[in-house]
Amino acid sequence: MSSPDRPLTLVLVGPMASGKTSIGRKVARILDVPFVDTDKRIVAAHGPIAQIFAEHGEGHFRALEREAVAQAVTEGGVVSLGGGAVTDVGTRTLLAQHPVVFLTVSADAVAARIGGSSRPLLNGDDDPVARWRTIFEQRRGWYEELADLTVDTSRRPMRAMAEEIASWRKDHP
Ligand code: S3P
Repeated sequence: MSSPDRPLTLVLVGPMASGKTSIGRKVARILDVPFVDTDKRIVAAHGPIAQIFAEHGEGHFRALEREAVAQAVTEGGVVSLGGGAVTDVGTRTLLAQHPVVFLTVSADAVAARIGGSSRPLLNGDDDPVARWRTIFEQRRGWYEELADLTVDTSRRPMRAMAEEIASWRKDHP
């Protein structure tokens, strides 16, 4: 899937706070390819995610996300998606054509990572970890269906996980 003028592609999916951005950036550095975070692209072009959800709804955000994913996989490199990208059938169709790593994480490990979150889907009156868990369970089947490799990010050092993912990608051209 890579060519002399286009870097290899690798997509990271997984629930909110599973480490997609931090690990993705490290994997890209190891593989010496560009890194794209589709959420950051959307924010740069359209403003804060919470505002997009509030003003235009989740459906509009998913359409922007689908466009951002399509553009990113065309460019190549390591691409980290927002946790809910897999809920969109068009995005799933795009992802089926690329190597996908599913970063999974336990609710215990996530509890320490989502405090003061700006994620609109975790804001509300109820416990954010309970909310996170419900959302993850709704999406788990899609992550598993798309995954070519699954890595649990609950406990291991970032660097070790990034190296494992990069060497897996090298072995799966
Ligand atoms: C979302 C996850 C967020 C972001 C948006 C919606 C989701 O990205 O795309 O808030 O639906 O799970 P992270 O997975 O990077 O938190």
